[in-house]
Amino acid sequence: MELYVDSANLKDIKHAASLGFISGVTTNPTLLAREDPSLDIRALILDIHRTVGGHVSVEVVSTDTSGMLREANEILEWFPEATIKIPFIPEGLSAVRELANNGIPTNVTLMFTPLQALIAANAGATYVSLFIGRLDDITTDGVKAIEETCEIWDVHGLEALIIAASIRHPMHLLAVAKAGAHIATTPYNVLMQAMKHPLTDAGLAAFLRDHQKMVSAKT
Ligand code: E4P
Repeated sequence: MELYVDSANLKDIKHAASLGFISGVTTNPTLLAREDPSLDIRALILDIHRTVGGHVSVEVVSTDTSGMLREANEILEWFPEATIKIPFIPEGLSAVRELANNGIPTNVTLMFTPLQALIAANAGATYVSLFIGRLDDITTDGVKAIEETCEIWDVHGLEALIIAASIRHPMHLLAVAKAGAHIATTPYNVLMQAMKHPLTDAGLAAFLRDHQKMVSAKT
């Protein structure tokens, strides 16, 4: 399972990318709005792409098919490597089909059920993003939605890549990795939490202490 950073914060993205295990970034209008409003969003996204080098999803904000297609074309003019992120609404599906017919990668977002994912895949989506944390928030099992989606993908050999999104904690990451999600797009703080183990820290402290003892004994 690949790991993307779900963020628009350049400092966090740069740090996560420097660790060597990140292969993409997803943004959305809410994440962008959390950053300094004076920021040039195009420059920020291009900087993110220069930093990570892999997948970067950029979301459209129109709600009609022609508006989405116009925005997608505008984005592709200044960022040809973009994956166009499109909300799962009927107008969005038509846009996904049109973009797929032209070989443009799409990430269909705001999905909460395996059937929505199946429909998006049939519309030609390259990536299907299921929001598991938001399901948990309303007392519905988010991980189960990923498990069922992966089961459907296995049965039918579907090609769209399943992104587990709206990840809230390391246990989500573990569960979606076991279920078979292709990608988990993860907030920076959850990536940092997932790396942490007290025995790693204690073990390293002991190794360094013992090494220092040997060095001191020789001097
Ligand atoms: C995915 O692409 C979304 O940006 C994201 O995972 C949404 O997560 P949230 O529920 O934490 O806002």
